Amino acid sequence: MQKIHAAITGVGGYVPEYRLTNAELEKMMDTTDEWIQTRTGIKERRIQKGEGKGSSDMAVEAVKNLLDKKGIDPKEIELLICATTTPDMQFPATANIICDKAGLSNAWGYDVSAACSGFIFALTTGTQFIETGKHKKVIVVGVDKMSSIINYEDRTTAIIFGDGGGAVLLEPTTEEYGVLDSVLRTDGAGRVHLHQKAGGSVKPATMETVMNKEHYVYQEGQAVFKFAVKNMADVAADIMARNNLTADTVQWLAPHQANKRIISATAERMGLPAEKVIINIDRYGNTTNGTLPLCLWEWEDKFRKGDNIVMAAFGGGFTWGALYIKWAYDTPKK
Ligand code: UT7
Repeated sequence: MQKIHAAITGVGGYVPEYRLTNAELEKMMDTTDEWIQTRTGIKERRIQKGEGKGSSDMAVEAVKNLLDKKGIDPKEIELLICATTTPDMQFPATANIICDKAGLSNAWGYDVSAACSGFIFALTTGTQFIETGKHKKVIVVGVDKMSSIINYEDRTTAIIFGDGGGAVLLEPTTEEYGVLDSVLRTDGAGRVHLHQKAGGSVKPATMETVMNKEHYVYQEGQAVFKFAVKNMADVAADIMARNNLTADTVQWLAPHQANKRIISATAERMGLPAEKVIINIDRYGNTTNGTLPLCLWEWEDKFRKGDNIVMAAFGGGFTWGALYIKWAYDTPKK
């Protein structure tokens, strides 16, 4: 029997309209545009406004964008996996809410929680359902409303994160396209450096946890930076070696957008020139699970059928990993 691969056959994305610029942050806290740009590469990030709006609402826009582009009826989708760190609620899963709001009435779904590596973890999981022949149309979403867990009095985190997300469609092919390999890692000992202190079963919400600002992102930036630089570069180099890829045969690096300096270190390790590296951190900041599908969404019409793409991510947990994807289609020129 021929091996079935899971090809990405479409991409959708969504970012909210509101732009939180460095200039605006300068008015809110003790920071400067110069510091933010030099240390992170970020100029602005998008923020979701509006009462009662959450991650699912951005995901629904991305899913609709994807289905419209593909001309696919939402009822044809069999499974939707949502990678998010900012679910609409503790339960039910945001995947269920997205399916309901976007009319995916025949799909089942669940959420994946792996912080900034969530999208590559979810994409790998979705790939298995295609490769085994179980499903023919799977949507994988990566989305976050990071503004819902950011303390805008903390200059070390407020400048980094933003809101947004995207979605990809996975379909089977017997040709050599799609998600061809993955290296995924976790190290729970790293959790002390990046987490949200309260709101889970260990420390449920109380007046005190709210007063102590324990429902926001807690990050020891330098410790995370050090681990990220080494490990994201290591897995990217590893996936290249495993698949006999070289700097010449890799067309694109799609890296998680956490810090431009981490991205540059990974690209350097892979030997890739800047023009092969996808960067949109300047406009969106770190949207956590949203960064990678947003990269694919924005670069879709630059990709050519057969392009070798390496995706790499790093995040809280710690979690990290890399995927090797052979792009399956040409986007018609407009
Ligand atoms: O995606 C999930 C994984 N997360 C990451 O990958 C994030 C990894 N970490 C980072 O990207 C960086 O560590 C940060 C961007 C968070 C911080 O950059 P840094 O170059 O590591 O700065 P630092 O923490 O070493 O701080 C240097 C100085 C400190 O002042 P002193 O102690 O030297 O006087 C900070 O207080 O910069 C200060 N600082 C700021 N100054 C102006 C910290 N934040 C700011 C700020 N504006 N926003």
